[in-house]
Amino acid sequence: MAQKRQAWNSRIGLILAMAGGAVGLGNFLRFPIQAIQNGGGAFIIPYLVSFVLLGLPLTMIEWSTGKLGGLFGHHSPPMIMQKLGRRVHWRYIGSIGLFSSIIIASYYCFIESWIFSYMLHSLFGTFDGMTELQISDFFDRYLNLSISVSGIPCDTFLSFVFCLALNIYILSKGIAGGIERVAKICMPLLFIFGIFLVIKAFTLKAGEDGAIFDGTLGLNFLWTPQFDSLANPNVWLAAAGQVFFTLSLGMGAIQTYASYLKKEQDIALSSLTSAFTNEFTEVILGSSIIIPISIGYFGIDKVIELTQSGGFGLGFRTMPYLFEQWGTVFSTLAGVAFFGLLFFAGITSTLSIIQPTVAHLSKSFDWSQKKSSYITGSFVFFLALPCILFFDKGVFDEYDYWGGTMALFLFAMFEAIAFSWILGVDKGWKLITGYANITVPRFFKFVLKYITPTMLILIFISALVKPMNDDWSLISIHGWELDNNAIIAKLMHKGMDVNDSNIIYIDGARIYLLLLLITIWLTIYINIRVRKKRVQKHNESMMS
Ligand code: TRP
Ligand code: TRP
Repeated sequence: MAQKRQAWNSRIGLILAMAGGAVGLGNFLRFPIQAIQNGGGAFIIPYLVSFVLLGLPLTMIEWSTGKLGGLFGHHSPPMIMQKLGRRVHWRYIGSIGLFSSIIIASYYCFIESWIFSYMLHSLFGTFDGMTELQISDFFDRYLNLSISVSGIPCDTFLSFVFCLALNIYILSKGIAGGIERVAKICMPLLFIFGIFLVIKAFTLKAGEDGAIFDGTLGLNFLWTPQFDSLANPNVWLAAAGQVFFTLSLGMGAIQTYASYLKKEQDIALSSLTSAFTNEFTEVILGSSIIIPISIGYFGIDKVIELTQSGGFGLGFRTMPYLFEQWGTVFSTLAGVAFFGLLFFAGITSTLSIIQPTVAHLSKSFDWSQKKSSYITGSFVFFLALPCILFFDKGVFDEYDYWGGTMALFLFAMFEAIAFSWILGVDKGWKLITGYANITVPRFFKFVLKYITPTMLILIFISALVKPMNDDWSLISIHGWELDNNAIIAKLMHKGMDVNDSNIIYIDGARIYLLLLLITIWLTIYINIRVRKKRVQKHNESMMS
């Protein structure tokens, strides 16, 4: 029967859980790589501007609408969006949030499991004495599901199952008993490991331990602002995308957590605290580990080249090798600290990304948190399978593109429109500032009304029809040729050879994802019907 309403135990627990959700692999792996790829200091200005004009306003929107939904007993993105948009069809728009969160959950758990495995390998010294090539090769074999990378058969697969099971176990213990408790343990450990690594990176000296440059060279690369990139839309898109990703915006994860707030609880101060905790961890800790260490050993140009081949190389191929240069004791310590930190960052994030689906099932079918957790866990498992088995066929990237990038822009756009223009910014502002422990600058009211929705619409349109080579001049001599990464071009496999054998896997992945979306719609549809019947019955019994 009706479940007891869950709630957070303490404010510090809430903030740690929220910050834990936001602080993830994005802070330590994705941010440094995006920064390097987009010109170091050139990336920072668009990044900070996007943080203020998109990141903070959306954070406030998600916290306040989540809390609003929770007060009416709604805990999942579809219902919260309906509350906001005030019509039933907004539920279907809200389903985009569930769609992307469950997809991200599946591939994010997979990355988490590599990290877990690498943490054990660092601890047991698997990488001791390996050459750079051998460590890189280890990663390839790991991803290609070599039966035994390290003497343990099916290492890759077992590690994934273990990580998913751990997540589900924690979630089955509920909001206060599971998520909040884990955040209180993981977050402090993460900071301790992070600070240890930052100190090692800052004290890296040219000529010692095989380093060629001082660690500080990398920091200068990142912190010398360059203004020439400000006119490049691509850098802006990358910066905005990173802000979304790192703050966990645009997929209902924050809304779900915020829906467990109590009526008199402040959101202004708590939301800003957790957003700034995330930024501190990203900009200060996240940028001071991988960047200075790798640049100290390889120099700027080589590191830029290393990141061209994709995001993960630097973390999984290069870092374990560089740690080896520090002698047995320090290499073990550094390896465990680095992958331990990533693991703690990862697990608090996967919890927050699986909970929206758990809440949706629990509310729709009146299941307990435990039962919904187990069922969600099996969903995530089957969704992740193709991503694991066909990683090298491009399935992983397909998940990341649709679920982890495009869906976020779409969802955030609807969210901002619903908040500012349907609910109305005046009412919204009251939600944000009611019971607030600080005064929110009124400047944000203006931003919320005009700037954020407009920027989101522009971002979405540009993702739809991004031109080739980022040539945005409308009357270009070559006409408007779509970039291979524009949504429309992507749908048509632009830039791929027709005979490319990966196409079939990619199409398969798309069909799979489409089925997922239809399933979500079905649960929503059933839920609407069931509720209607219940109300009818209730009315009839009142009449007789
Ligand atoms: N913010 C997380 C990170 O920085 C990644 C992420 C994106 C996420 N969306 C999420 C985590 C939703 C949890 C829930 O790595
Ligand atoms: N697209 C990312 C990049 O290469 C890779 C990536 C996808 C990623 N999901 C991630 C990195 C989660 C870190 C965490 O930049």
